[in-house]
Amino acid sequence: MKYVLSIETSCDDTSVALVDQNRQVLCCLVASQDLAHKPFGGVVPEIASRNHTAHILPLIDKAFESTKILWSDILGIAVTNRPGLVGSLIVGLVTAKSLSLAKNIPFLGIHHIEGHIMAPFLKDESYQGPNFYNEDFVALVVSGGHTQLYHVQGFGHYQVLGQTIDDAAGEAFDKFAKMLGLPYPGGVEVDKRAQVGNNKAFRFPKPLMNEDNFNFSFSGLKSAAQRQIEKMTLEEKAHQINDLCASYQHSIVSVLEKKLDRAIADTAVNNFVVSGGVSANSGLRQAAENIASKRGLNLALPPLRYCTDNAAMIGLVGLLRLSRGETSTHDLGPQPRAQL
Ligand code: KG4
Ligand code: ZN
Repeated sequence: MKYVLSIETSCDDTSVALVDQNRQVLCCLVASQDLAHKPFGGVVPEIASRNHTAHILPLIDKAFESTKILWSDILGIAVTNRPGLVGSLIVGLVTAKSLSLAKNIPFLGIHHIEGHIMAPFLKDESYQGPNFYNEDFVALVVSGGHTQLYHVQGFGHYQVLGQTIDDAAGEAFDKFAKMLGLPYPGGVEVDKRAQVGNNKAFRFPKPLMNEDNFNFSFSGLKSAAQRQIEKMTLEEKAHQINDLCASYQHSIVSVLEKKLDRAIADTAVNNFVVSGGVSANSGLRQAAENIASKRGLNLALPPLRYCTDNAAMIGLVGLLRLSRGETSTHDLGPQPRAQL
């Protein structure tokens, strides 16, 4: 059996994985930098790249030690080279190129969003991703930096149906959390409180929900929430924080659910996936399950470890592309703003 070594350093988490030729994840390590960025309420690019530099080689060593896999078993190295923070991308890319030269094995630059689209097809001891990646499917990718709907006509063929025209869904969660004084990253904090709140307590807008397109916009929702929060006293905020979170989350999820449902109807697919950091959201997971059961479709919803940034998803794309003979040359650079 051969393996792909994969590296993901596009934003603030350093991740290394080993994926075998059957899409099975042998090991997926993530060094989270949440604590380093917490005092600043968001990712500080310089801190992110410095931490990647400190973490990347020890993580690679650990991946080999814990799996007992040898360098001679590695068929190639897959590394995220686009899009992302340029300083962060460089750390992963330079590491992959150096190892590729030193060990004389091919490497391949991978698009981060293609990784998120393919994450639901990974397999491990407790998750068996389905096999429909070479068929037609719809993919909703919702993360801290992206909110996109794709019609995928088999692996490698991506048609953008729509995307956000301002903030990403995760960004909308994080900024709202910051307004409420919740710790970074805020999405999971809002989700926790939303689960015990009343989602009808506040009427927040659901931007573009009924427009006949697949675009998203969350900045108006964010401003409406800010106006509501500014009107409230400290006591009111503390007392109603669960209801605020539930109502705000309900707006985001309703819009995502409606557009996803319409995309599925328009493309007449039988399969869909939801991925990216925000697909960890309990409300969105429920909404996706509802669509699947209402329409009788196949849904792949990855476990939380493959929703947020991780190298296993990059390894899977690497595996499928390296197996077709694709490799990168050593003049490959980072592309901070590349489209899929
Ligand atoms: O995919 P990801 O790890 O990084 C990017 O590529 O952006 O996504 C991170 C985003 C953050 O905005 C975070 O707040 C959000 O995913 N997130 C959530 C939840 N868990 C993570 N948003 C809502 N509910 C959650 N449970
Ligand atoms: Zn991501």
